[in-house]
Amino acid sequence: MTAMGPFGDYPHTRPRRNRQTDWSRRMVRENRLTVDDLIWPIFVQPGKSQRTAIPSLPGVDRLTIDLAVEEAQRAESLGIPVLALFPATPSELKTPDCEEAVNPENLVCEAVRAIKKLGLNLGILCDVALDPYSSHGQDGLVRDGYVVNDETVEMLCRQSLVQAQAGCDIIAPSDMMDGRIGEIRKALDHKGYQHVQIMSYAAKYASAFYGPFRDAVGSSGNLGGGDKKTYQMDPANTDEAIREVALDIQEGADMVMVKPGMPYLDIVRRVKETFHQPTYVYQVSGEYAMLHAAAGNGWLDLNKVMLESLTAFKRAGADGILTYFAPVAAEMLKSG
Ligand code: PBG
Repeated sequence: MTAMGPFGDYPHTRPRRNRQTDWSRRMVRENRLTVDDLIWPIFVQPGKSQRTAIPSLPGVDRLTIDLAVEEAQRAESLGIPVLALFPATPSELKTPDCEEAVNPENLVCEAVRAIKKLGLNLGILCDVALDPYSSHGQDGLVRDGYVVNDETVEMLCRQSLVQAQAGCDIIAPSDMMDGRIGEIRKALDHKGYQHVQIMSYAAKYASAFYGPFRDAVGSSGNLGGGDKKTYQMDPANTDEAIREVALDIQEGADMVMVKPGMPYLDIVRRVKETFHQPTYVYQVSGEYAMLHAAAGNGWLDLNKVMLESLTAFKRAGADGILTYFAPVAAEMLKSG
């Protein structure tokens, strides 16, 4: 006689049947992480042949351009499709009006040129925002204590242009000013950079998970107790993310991003299901630091939580992940 259980004609329906063996689990697996999903963010500093540890980002160093070039070669040989560059600008070059951001010879532009010279099968992504160049740590120009929108957008257009000129493939505005995607697209097209892609940080939240990144680019001290709540999104909101992404797509974004990652998987899912656009997610510095810290205490298995978290982004609908784990994950995927 068949007993009726919580699954209907139990025990005939047994979901565990498909999970019995490794081959069967592989056969029914719905999502797969591959090296093509990885975007690797690195930090560039001035000087030569020097790496400087970032204590709050274990295993991630600031690199001089010559070493960044070596990492670019490593990225290509691992099959990582894109490298994202962030500058650790010397504090004497940081000013309230952020002029260094539009200097065609700034660190990021020089790094792009040095990497692009190699002709690798590797995309270069440059972040567009003023915080690595500002003496106040904000992503835009500050007037009477407020981050002004339209004047900042003009600077972001100029910043995008020097990066495109240096050979950057993907412009990634992370500033959250209104209307910047449309203006940057126009500026690029006007100067003949129609082929340069835009990945918009479209739904970027005013998150406390960016702390170690701000240490890495040296903006945390400058920001002091300040925050970015007048331009980055309120972590309590979800419809607003849909409106932000809609605007950026309408303004010409080729790809959109949700940031941070792990606490915002619901946003990734909603954005993917609503727009069906190439959708990326940033596993930010604080998420990376958190997993490392727990693993360092022996509380979590780092490799396992790394692969689990990256797979979870895929399951949520992401087409790719910006993650400081990229090289380690790529090595692991390579060796199976
Ligand atoms: C710059 C920018 C930030 C991050 C990426 N681009 C910091 C911020 O917005 O304060 C954070 C990335 C990370 O935490 O890993 N606007």
